[in-house]
Amino acid sequence: MILVLFWTMVLIIMKPLRYTTAAAADAGDGCLNALRFNLGSHITWPSSRIKCEYRASGRYVPSNIIHTRAQMCKDKAIVVSPKYKCGVPFTVGEISINVPSKCQTMTHAYPCWELHDECSCDSIINAVDLYLDCKGVLWVLDTGIINTISSPTKKCGPKVVGFHCESGTVLSIVQLSSLVFPTSRLQYITADYNSDGGAFLYISDAATRALLVWDVQSNSGYRVVLPKMLMDGGVKRDVLYLALVRAKCGSNFLYFTYLSAMRMYYIKTQHLQGHSSTGCIIDVGCKPGKIVVLGTDNGSVLFFRLHGENDIYMWNTALPFKPYYFILAQRGEDCRVATHVFPGYNRLMWVMESNFQDFLQGNVGCLGASTSVHPMMKPTTSY
Ligand SMILES: *[C@@H]1O[C@H](CO)[C@@H](O)[C@H](O)[C@H]1NC(C)=O
Repeated sequence: MILVLFWTMVLIIMKPLRYTTAAAADAGDGCLNALRFNLGSHITWPSSRIKCEYRASGRYVPSNIIHTRAQMCKDKAIVVSPKYKCGVPFTVGEISINVPSKCQTMTHAYPCWELHDECSCDSIINAVDLYLDCKGVLWVLDTGIINTISSPTKKCGPKVVGFHCESGTVLSIVQLSSLVFPTSRLQYITADYNSDGGAFLYISDAATRALLVWDVQSNSGYRVVLPKMLMDGGVKRDVLYLALVRAKCGSNFLYFTYLSAMRMYYIKTQHLQGHSSTGCIIDVGCKPGKIVVLGTDNGSVLFFRLHGENDIYMWNTALPFKPYYFILAQRGEDCRVATHVFPGYNRLMWVMESNFQDFLQGNVGCLGASTSVHPMMKPTTSY
């Protein structure tokens, strides 16, 4: 009886997961390895002369490149490599998923090399996050500030660029200068649509404790300043995570939490679209510790890991936010941590992981960081 109940529970929990994990995708090991892409500092150049110039002038320092975020558009992954340090030629790139992976995957500038010219504020100066919305528009968050670890330098105002993800055509450019302060630290972006089909952008500003909301159609936005208690337990330079949970009936939920804070919250995006303020913030519950929010399955399942650990858990947001409902989704690899989990190619859930902690501490040596993109691997031992 207890067993039956248990399995019913697992089935209920698993059902809303619209994507399969790799082991469930009926693919053998060899096949899965072919879907493991290792990203380093190998990039394609417009010409060997430009490569030489970039190297000579310190604008290409391979060991300073690390990839942290990704989204999948058909058979390519669009990847972000923020300018934490100098020597990162471009911060949005693409890799092909439909070719067998080699030891090192080449990253091409997305959508083109010219859009990453650091001397023009029309370019993407420093992308830190990206989000593919349900209509295939890829929103790239550009803070305009470079070398954020070594020596932060403001080049341009912050903006969001919306691309038709397949063609790379620029659909809209949203300037965020009117919504930020000199102290702002923009970190994550998600997007959805209101009932009239108008796009809304939601961006976290960790330093000023705010969500920026932008109505693309009316080209206007506002700040939702979060109550101070949301930072309880938090530290000074904290991270404000966002995750958009998409419910069936068109009402979406924006989950958010500070890395170091004790509790998880959400707000219905309808409220954000309608300029309602902070009264609509729902307290979801107490977190099992510091958690790193990694992404969603494009539906109601949220992925996360505990800070400093590398196992990935999933939680169906339709169920209570309690450890009992946190399911181990993938066991971590030694010395590597996931920085993003996202749905994509072959209806699989995908993971981007790297030696990010070592990179931040300057411990990657001359070989540089190593990032990989691969399907989520279901743990072999049962949970
Ligand atoms: C997410 O779901 C929507 C349908 O609600 C679909 O159109 C879109 O392609 C999905 N996105 C991804 C990345 O799977």
